[in-house]
Amino acid sequence: MRAVVYDRYGPPDVLRLADVERPVPKEDEVLVKIHATAVTRADCATREANRRSGLAVTLLSRSISGLRRPRQRILGSELAGEVEAVGAAVSEFAVGDHVFGSSGFRFGAYAEFICMRESARIAHKPNGMSFEEAAAVCDGGLNALWCLRLADPRKGQRILIYGASGAIGTAGVQLAKYFEADVTAVCSTKNLELVRSLGADRVIDYTQEDFTKNGQTYDVIFDAVGKHSFRRCRGSLKRGGSYLATDGFQNLILALWTSRIGHKKVMFSIPPRYTKKDVLFLKELIEAGRYRAVIDRCYPLEDVVEATRYVETEQKTGNVVLTIHGG
Ligand SMILES: NC(=O)c1ccc[n+]([C@@H]2O[C@H](COP(=O)([O-])OP(=O)(O)OC[C@H]3O[C@@H](n4cnc5c(N)ncnc54)[C@H](OP(=O)(O)O)[C@@H]3O)[C@@H](O)[C@H]2O)c1
Repeated sequence: MRAVVYDRYGPPDVLRLADVERPVPKEDEVLVKIHATAVTRADCATREANRRSGLAVTLLSRSISGLRRPRQRILGSELAGEVEAVGAAVSEFAVGDHVFGSSGFRFGAYAEFICMRESARIAHKPNGMSFEEAAAVCDGGLNALWCLRLADPRKGQRILIYGASGAIGTAGVQLAKYFEADVTAVCSTKNLELVRSLGADRVIDYTQEDFTKNGQTYDVIFDAVGKHSFRRCRGSLKRGGSYLATDGFQNLILALWTSRIGHKKVMFSIPPRYTKKDVLFLKELIEAGRYRAVIDRCYPLEDVVEATRYVETEQKTGNVVLTIHGG
């Protein structure tokens, strides 16, 4: 089968198309013919061994993904496709079923086929959704769900989402609204309408207004894009409020520190532990019309390097999808 592989850590052009062996499903696995996957920030960070985040994080990253070279040659954690074969013990899926899901840090989805355990984060594709859209659900959706749950989201809670136009941000706005929070979304001018359409109660254009200086306070500040900091926004948190981080080694230390000292908390828990139940939860929301995946661009698998360069501008709106087998 065709797959995008990489044999060393480095810039986007270490990625190349190659012929590799097609995986064979074990007893409890399904073989999925992938129609669409997504290029995520996690793919990019893993490929360059988190070089941008400093030596300590690079070492940690390599200790997980391979010290000298990547152990898993195929990146990609998002997938939507069709069941091609099932192991003898599989009961939930049958050949021909349309499915979507996330292989997480096992990766392997930049490929024509992938094997997933039936109990893994895979579910039937929501009715009426294209493969491209389905491949764009889990990255932002599962990450945002994991982060928001740390803060026990509930009705009337005032949540500010910074970076509301990215993969995690667009998911965060919709999920926070599902939990009946009062949502203020922060993004740049070009994304105001999009973020409003996702259900934000109010939007702030950060090129025009600094939310930390307008006197408003929040129960939760969700930095969905890793561009703000606890130090800069703690004045905008209510007493007992939480700053939810998605990135940054320093936030791990701050999370430990503020869990013992002070009345405003940093919350950052890695690695995230998503489950199949979470994927099923997103599917239900989609089918109820309460969640949609935002797609910025689609590229064919062959253009993975170009797609990756675009994701690394850190300016994508929502998700970037790769189509395989004609999408
Ligand atoms: N995606 C993952 O798998 C994953 C997993 C764990 C953690 N993370 C971390 O989570 C963060 C978000 O990931 P993501 O994939 O959701 O991000 P993303 O989609 O790449 O975010 C892109 C958006 O961020 C906004 N942005 C860029 N620079 C900004 C700035 N200086 N201030 C405010 N907004 C800015 C841009 O919108 P505007 O023009 O509207 O500002 C752009 O649309 C990253 O730090 C990533 O490393 C990601």
